[in-house]
Amino acid sequence: SRTAAVIPAAGRGVRLGPGAPKALRALGGTPMLVHAVRAMAASRAVSLVVVVAPPDGAAEVRALLDDHPLSGHDRAEVLVVPGGGTRQESVRLGLAALPADVTTVLVHDAARPLVPVDTVDAVITAVREGAPAVVPALPLADTVKQVEPRTGAAEGEPELVTGTPERALLRAVQTPQGFDRRTLDAAHEKFADLAGEGATDDAGMVERLGAPVVLVPGHEEAFKVTRPLDLVLAEAVLARRRA
Ligand code: CTP
Ligand code: MG
Repeated sequence: SRTAAVIPAAGRGVRLGPGAPKALRALGGTPMLVHAVRAMAASRAVSLVVVVAPPDGAAEVRALLDDHPLSGHDRAEVLVVPGGGTRQESVRLGLAALPADVTTVLVHDAARPLVPVDTVDAVITAVREGAPAVVPALPLADTVKQVEPRTGAAEGEPELVTGTPERALLRAVQTPQGFDRRTLDAAHEKFADLAGEGATDDAGMVERLGAPVVLVPGHEEAFKVTRPLDLVLAEAVLARRRA
């Protein structure tokens, strides 16, 4: 039985603005994806990392990873497969590349390059102790409003608030999310045809299956690089680590 990490890295990064695919953008002079691969390989439990590249970019990503080899003590094997049009499809393609002896799977966004190894290990430990799905999570800083679903006709109108969920009962979830491999495979098989953007969260698909999902403490440095300001923060975190 082995633990593997699947890293969806096939997104374009529209919210980050024009440029290379988000996972290939530099952070402290090194592509974000390379940081994410190292963050997974830093866990002694992880012996395989499957990187899901942009659909037409697998060769480029393979070359990039070969240019940035893992250090001696992070000895994971790294595979690259082409991804799909949604995150859900990319994860499904990554899972399909896992060998039969993988029993625990992490799914980790390439866009969370700075997750500390202690968070990765906490997720793996909770799965090995029997939880079918484990998610790192943090309390929210902002209060959250629910709004009416938007139709095209409402463009430009103020949004109507329909509710305010109690903040203390909400959590912001991060990755890596950890799973019993069979449970995650079953979820991706059953919900393969979700419409539109598909699921943005693997644990949510396991919830739909009816299996329990548990949380472990997340970490501030596991934030997702989504908008330009996030890059500024990520550079600052890296600079602080290197100081
Ligand atoms: N992802 C993927 N395949 C897709 C879309 C997203 O593998 N078709 C990956 C991204 O590369 C990223 C992770 O899913 O590592 C989280 O997605 P997100 O932060 O939304 O990244 P992007 O989709 O690239 O960004 P945006 O939504 O702003 O375009
Ligand atoms: Mg996206």
